[in-house]
Amino acid sequence: KRPGPPLQGLWGHVTQKYFRYKGINFPMMLYSEQGLQEVENEFQVRDDDIFNVTYQKSGTVWMLEILSLIRSNGDPSWCRTVPNWDRGPWYETNLGLQRARGNESPRIISSHLPVQLFAKSFFQSKAKVLYTVRNPKDVLVSLHHFAQIFRPYKEPGQLDEFLEEFLKGDVPFGSWFDHVKGWLSLRGHENFFWISYEELQQDLRGSVERICRFLGRELDTQALDAVVENTSFQAMKQNKMSNFSLSPRFILDQRKSSFLRKGISGDWKNHLTTAQSEAFDRIYQEQMRGLDLTFPWDEP
Ligand code: A3P
Repeated sequence: KRPGPPLQGLWGHVTQKYFRYKGINFPMMLYSEQGLQEVENEFQVRDDDIFNVTYQKSGTVWMLEILSLIRSNGDPSWCRTVPNWDRGPWYETNLGLQRARGNESPRIISSHLPVQLFAKSFFQSKAKVLYTVRNPKDVLVSLHHFAQIFRPYKEPGQLDEFLEEFLKGDVPFGSWFDHVKGWLSLRGHENFFWISYEELQQDLRGSVERICRFLGRELDTQALDAVVENTSFQAMKQNKMSNFSLSPRFILDQRKSSFLRKGISGDWKNHLTTAQSEAFDRIYQEQMRGLDLTFPWDEP
């Protein structure tokens, strides 16, 4: 059970503080070393598990909503009655681990873990991973807003300073570059699928069809229509089980900004100066060199 507001004072000593686990920052408020060890070494992956994996702010809850609706054949009642964090718990959090263990198969499990910290038993299973990537400049801007409203995270300060921390990987879940390169090294494995936030946006219906094919699920036209309709930004914003309005304010304070903030691609252009964007590009090129891949945002 989630602690209510009266307990807020008790959380003071862990609010906005991180610990390092195998070189990666994790917020003390939601994670523990013991939990992360359990996930990595003891968590029993089931063959029919479906993992929704992302670097944070890349479209996690969007994919979670898509997977939830596919699971229920387009019927929105599950999504409208159960909070997303219970439908597809983040299994590396203390609460999410318990929830994931207790959920009925086929489970949807969300995760921001880098591949090297993922449950070892996954690699001997037939479980499936869907990995969603997003333009890292948009991830940065989204994260900069999110860190201002999410209490487990440190106050991010000005974008300039935060940009440096992001590029160094000195943020929760470590470096975007390492995360993406690590997970995409599984390309070609039959239980691994990847897609970009930008593709979801350009062609949601076509993307849902691809996801269904990967999952081995056939949806009729009506069910497919329902998945698309209920996973639009507007529909999710209106669904209190998906818009985090049920989160206690001492964890997420949506008065300044929203979890479902803008939901567009290219918002970085409204926030990064030319100099910041160029500095970003230099590191990006250096880090991504050798990865034989073109992403939608790489195209001129
Ligand atoms: P913005 O802050 O740019 O708006 P995550 O779920 O990984 O934390 O990612 C959150 C980002 O995904 C937010 O980006 C949020 O608005 C966006 N998002 C969530 N659902 C979406 C949807 N249905 N359509 C478009 N963007 C969505």
